[in-house]
Amino acid sequence: MRLLLLSALAATTALAASQDKQLEETIIEAFGGVVNLTMNVTGEIAKVAGSDLSTALPVQSATTNLVNYINNATAALNKFGALNLTSDEALVLGPYTQGLAYTVNASIATLIGKKPDFLQLNLGPLVITSLQQQQNASVDFSKAILGRIPPDIYPVATAINSQITNSLQQGLDCFNGMNETCNATPVNASRTLDYAEDTGAITAAAALPARATGAVAWAVVVGAAAFAI
Ligand SMILES: *[C@@H]1O[C@H](CO)[C@@H](O)[C@H](O)[C@H]1NC(C)=O
Ligand SMILES: *[C@@H]1O[C@H](CO)[C@@H](O)[C@H](O)[C@H]1NC(C)=O
Ligand SMILES: *[C@@H]1O[C@H](CO)[C@@H](O)[C@H](O)[C@H]1NC(C)=O
Ligand SMILES: *[C@@H]1O[C@H](CO)[C@@H](O)[C@H](O)[C@H]1NC(C)=O
Ligand SMILES: *[C@@H]1O[C@H](CO)[C@@H](O)[C@H](O)[C@H]1NC(C)=O
Ligand SMILES: *[C@@H]1O[C@H](CO)[C@@H](O)[C@H](O)[C@H]1NC(C)=O
Ligand SMILES: *[C@@H]1O[C@H](CO)[C@@H](O)[C@H](O)[C@H]1NC(C)=O
Ligand SMILES: *[C@@H]1O[C@H](CO)[C@@H](O)[C@H](O)[C@H]1NC(C)=O
Repeated sequence: MRLLLLSALAATTALAASQDKQLEETIIEAFGGVVNLTMNVTGEIAKVAGSDLSTALPVQSATTNLVNYINNATAALNKFGALNLTSDEALVLGPYTQGLAYTVNASIATLIGKKPDFLQLNLGPLVITSLQQQQNASVDFSKAILGRIPPDIYPVATAINSQITNSLQQGLDCFNGMNETCNATPVNASRTLDYAEDTGAITAAAALPARATGAVAWAVVVGAAAFAI
């Protein structure tokens, strides 16, 4: 009986571990998809010309794809119920999360740079609605992930997440007429990494894989948020 109980316990633990792994993989894939589709939106925004309405249509459909993907990924994550990640699993997500934050920064910075073109096409209000949709989708998406991050890493995870929220809010403020907030300069991820290394916020060894993936590790993230260069 005791043996039976023990093996049942072992089986439950193994199941939990494999579900955790599946959850982690689902999150990583979702980040990849969101990054890809966000870059697609950015590429389409970059092509918008104030003299040609047809250049704005692909932005609309790329954004719809992005929002649909985020909402779908959120639904997939919510299927994991109350399952939490371990600290080790959550740490793996760091570079992906920061990578996404930089991707969103570049996208909104590009959008801000194109404000005169969107206004010329009378699409200011449409941009605002679209940003609100992205904001709503990203709030639900981050809730589905942040709710599973263990308390020791939680502050770092929320710090990265707030970079994404801030980028979207900057876009909204800019298009809502607060021109003084319109800053079209994107973050330079390489420079942030160099700076973090120079100041000792990250070691060169830790920076290596970060450079390879084009993203940064959790340690830098705290620095990056603080440096804001
Ligand atoms: C994102 O794009 C990369 C490069 O094209 C590709 O390898 C990867 O599978 C894509 N990820 C998703 C989730 O679509
Ligand atoms: C965005 O994705 C669509 C297909 O979904 C593709 O036709 C288009 O060329 C992409 N745009 C950019 C700028 O990569
Ligand atoms: C929606 O999510 C499910 C589960 O992750 C996936 O199999 C499906 O391909 C996704 N559909 C779209 C349109 O992204
Ligand atoms: C804000 O900027 C837009 C274009 O970038 C311009 O058309 C508009 O007049 C500006 N508004 C103010 C109050 O400066
Ligand atoms: C965003 O969510 C808020 C609160 O749920 C809702 O009132 C608003 O209509 C949503 N906006 C868009 C553009 O979906
Ligand atoms: C899961 O993580 C969340 C967020 O840190 C925490 O509030 C919750 O108590 C955790 N649940 C369990 C069962 O540990
Ligand atoms: C992008 O990041 C830079 C550097 O941190 C910041 O100054 C800028 O306001 C950010 N822009 C957006 C739209 O997030
Ligand atoms: C970004 O930073 C890197 C490293 O500091 C630098 O080599 C590169 O020129 C910068 N790129 C831009 C566009 O400023």
